Amino acid sequence: PESGPSPAQGVGPLYRPDGEKPTATVSKEVSYENVHVLPQTPQLIALLTMIRDKRTSRADFIFYSNRIIRLLVEEGLNHLPVVEQSITTPVGRSYLGVKFEGKICGVSIMRAGEAMEQGLRDCCRSVRIGKILIQRDEETCMPKLFYDKLPTDIAERWVLLLDPMFATGGSATLAVETLIERGVPEHRILFLNLIASPSGVAEFAERFPKLRVVTSFIDQGLDEKKYIIPGLGDFGDRYYSM
Ligand code: URA
Repeated sequence: PESGPSPAQGVGPLYRPDGEKPTATVSKEVSYENVHVLPQTPQLIALLTMIRDKRTSRADFIFYSNRIIRLLVEEGLNHLPVVEQSITTPVGRSYLGVKFEGKICGVSIMRAGEAMEQGLRDCCRSVRIGKILIQRDEETCMPKLFYDKLPTDIAERWVLLLDPMFATGGSATLAVETLIERGVPEHRILFLNLIASPSGVAEFAERFPKLRVVTSFIDQGLDEKKYIIPGLGDFGDRYYSM
């Protein structure tokens, strides 16, 4: 029979047919139009494999996370509006292209979300970046807003909300509520995230149907300590301190 590379050789984008890939290697699907999962390319899966591996050094964890963050930012920017723009090239030809319309800002959910700020800056020079600190209230055990510093004109901007791990969605929900209170329309919020839990992202997408989530992978679920599984452990610890 005709033979291309056989799946057993493990080469090429279709190293195994989808139905035969290990389940933890395939992002779960969610049926919400406002949830966008990055294309599950071999490159993305290889990057995710690096950052999920407990043996990966801190330097490599930072390097490979940054590459995924860059992909998320680039995809997030695809959701911003553009208008037509006609230009002339150096050889005198005209070209009808597009340009971005509208102002943007980033808002990171501290501390792990701060790891995504540079990826946004690399794509959008001199972008304004705000911060939100949410922690568990010791008395009520509920997420509580401890601090925020947001651009004063945030209500006029598109907001790229940054948080790498989306477990229960408690912090992200409070962050979105804070942005809406400050006058940001829901449809102008894009939530960028590396790994999401299926329940967290589903609840969030239903609660805020007009905002968009861009994630690189929807994982299997949560363990009893609310860590994402298979996950990658504590993102902040691995990025900042281990
Ligand atoms: N935050 C993390 O850093 N990891 C998880 O698995 C869940 C929340």
